Amino acid sequence: MSAPWMIDCERLVRIYKTLDFEVQALQGLDLQVARGEMLALIGNSGSGKSTLLNLIGGLDRPTAGRLLVDGHDLLTLDDRARTLYKRRTVGFVWQNNARNLVPWLTAQENVEAPMLLEGVPRRERRERARALLETVGLAVRRRSRLAQLSGGEEQRVGIAIALANRPPLLLADEPTGSVDARTASLIYDLLRRLNREIGQTVVIVTHDRRVARLVERVVAIRDGRTSSELVLRQGYRERLEQLRAEGATLAHDPESTHEEWIVLDSAGRLQLPRDQLDALGLQGRGRLQSEVCDGRIVLTPESKEEKEGTDEKEDPAP
Ligand SMILES: Nc1ncnc2c1ncn2[C@@H]1O[C@H](COP(=O)(O)OP(=O)(O)OP(=O)(O)O)[C@@H](O)[C@H]1O
Ligand SMILES: [Mg+2]
Repeated sequence: MSAPWMIDCERLVRIYKTLDFEVQALQGLDLQVARGEMLALIGNSGSGKSTLLNLIGGLDRPTAGRLLVDGHDLLTLDDRARTLYKRRTVGFVWQNNARNLVPWLTAQENVEAPMLLEGVPRRERRERARALLETVGLAVRRRSRLAQLSGGEEQRVGIAIALANRPPLLLADEPTGSVDARTASLIYDLLRRLNREIGQTVVIVTHDRRVARLVERVVAIRDGRTSSELVLRQGYRERLEQLRAEGATLAHDPESTHEEWIVLDSAGRLQLPRDQLDALGLQGRGRLQSEVCDGRIVLTPESKEEKEGTDEKEDPAP
């Protein structure tokens, strides 16, 4: 099956209902991710990043909208197909990997566990786990029990586990949230390498804008919708590839290498940057020039007089 996109979601909605309140965590989110792409998702706390990742990972179900991953329709997948989907199509890495690691097993045994479920023969399991632990730089710690490893090492075992069944898509929700800066860059470089060498599609949720240096595209989510994207400037693409091929450490700054784009959803809605709205005092409503002007759409705030005029109409003096 070869759908054009690895991830294709349109007007995705997830509403959490509890007894006394309702949270619209995703409010009609659009996002497409190409096969082989490495993408970062950023956004404030509570903007819906983990909600989106959990839906893509098949851990949770959308309320409405469309969500196709590697050709699977996540809205109609039955329980059996969902279990297989989680095992074969996606690998998941969390901030704290305790939830998919078994502390009393060795690193090697932990990485073999998901293959056991898939019925991979013993010999192949061993070899694959060994190769994966080597990829994440832990060949020498193969026989250590998880409880004997550091946080950063555990995190790398977590990545090896996520890759055990060779999923075409790797999802990582703040994978470096609980490790130091040096380990964080080790983990990011590892994800980057997997993406380049195996062609794996990678989506990373992060608070760290510096991650932009590693990826072609950073998507910002605000209030449950895609609001803007930072995209690597055309001219930089080849230069970066060349630098990477030479093994150079890339310490450039995303402000100069990436361009920021505003994203319009399929209904034409967009979110304007808060600082620009505040600078103009745009609030409540603005005046949209009736025609496109020089290829631009012009939006101006209401003048003081217009505002006062409205107040009078709405609230006539007695
Ligand atoms: N199981 C749940 N029940 C009710 N509300 C939830 C649930 N999970 C998340 N929410 C709410 O949905 C919204 C989005 O949460 P989400 O966890 O996706 O945010 P996030 O962007 O990952 O934030 P953070 O950066 O803090 O991890 C928040 O308002 C959150 O309180
Ligand atoms: Mg989160």
